Amino acid sequence: MEVIIRPTADEAAELTSRIIKKSILEKPNLVLGLATGGTMEVVYDKLVCAHKEDNLDFSLCRTFNLDEYIGLPVEDKNSYRYYMNKNLFSRINIDIRNTYLPNGMAENYTAESKKYERLIRENGGIDLQLLGIGRSGHIGFNEPLSALQSRTREKALTPVTIEQNEIYFEPPESMPKRAFTMGIGTILDARKIVLLATGEGKAGIIAKAVEGPVTSMISASALQLHPKTTIIVDESAAKNLEEKEYYHWLFENEPEWDEYK
Ligand code: GLP
Repeated sequence: MEVIIRPTADEAAELTSRIIKKSILEKPNLVLGLATGGTMEVVYDKLVCAHKEDNLDFSLCRTFNLDEYIGLPVEDKNSYRYYMNKNLFSRINIDIRNTYLPNGMAENYTAESKKYERLIRENGGIDLQLLGIGRSGHIGFNEPLSALQSRTREKALTPVTIEQNEIYFEPPESMPKRAFTMGIGTILDARKIVLLATGEGKAGIIAKAVEGPVTSMISASALQLHPKTTIIVDESAAKNLEEKEYYHWLFENEPEWDEYK
C-alpha cells in the first residue's frame, strides 16, 4: 500500500483521473472498476474533460461498478446506474452495453450475485478498481464485519451509512436498507486499486484503515493485504495520519510519480 497526499481535494481527484487516463492509454480495453458517491463526481468530470479535450478513448473499455441499491429501478435518480449514466457514461464514448452494475431489481439475490461474479471473470477480471470510503470504513457496501474473503452478495446497510446517504433521498426514509456489493475478496482480486478520500470528515476513518490493524470492522483496512494499492488523500483527509512526512517524501522522491508533477 502507498499513500499519496495532495494539497487540495481537486488535486487529489486530478491525480486519480490521471492514473485512470494513463491506464486506458496503456490498455485501451481496460476493465475498470468504478465507485459512486460525491467524491467521485469530480473524478468523472475530469475524465469527461480528458475525453473531450484530449480525445481519451473509452470505446473499448468495460466497467464494473462496486454496488447498487436493492429495490431501485434504473430510472430512479438515486440508483447507482442513474448516477453512472448521468455523471460519466452519457458524457463519454463508452458502449453502454459494456458498463455493468448489479441489477437492483433482481429478485433472486444469490443468482444475481453469482451472475455478477461470473461476468467479471468472463471479462478477464478487473484491471484497475477505483474506490471511495464510507464513514463506516466500508468499500463498496462492505459494512463492518464483512468477511475479508467475501464475494458479491446482498448486504444490510448500517445506521451510519444510512445517515450518510439518506440526504440524497426524498423523503430520507425511502432510502433502501439493503444493497448488492462486490465482496472484499472480489475487490482484492483487482490487479490495481486506487482509493480516493477527501475532506476532514474522512480523516478519522482513513487513519484507521491505513495505519490501524487489518480488521473486518473496517473493511478498507483489508487493502493493506493488496500488493498494488494507492490511497490518495488531500491534506484534510490526511490530518490524522502519523507517517504523513514519509508519505510526502514518497511522492516527492519516488520516480513513478515524476510524470504526475
Ligand atoms: C457510498 C458508496 C461507496 C462510496 C461512499 C462514499 O456509500 N457505496 O462506494 O465510497 O458512498 O461516498 P462519498 O464520496 O459521498 O463520501
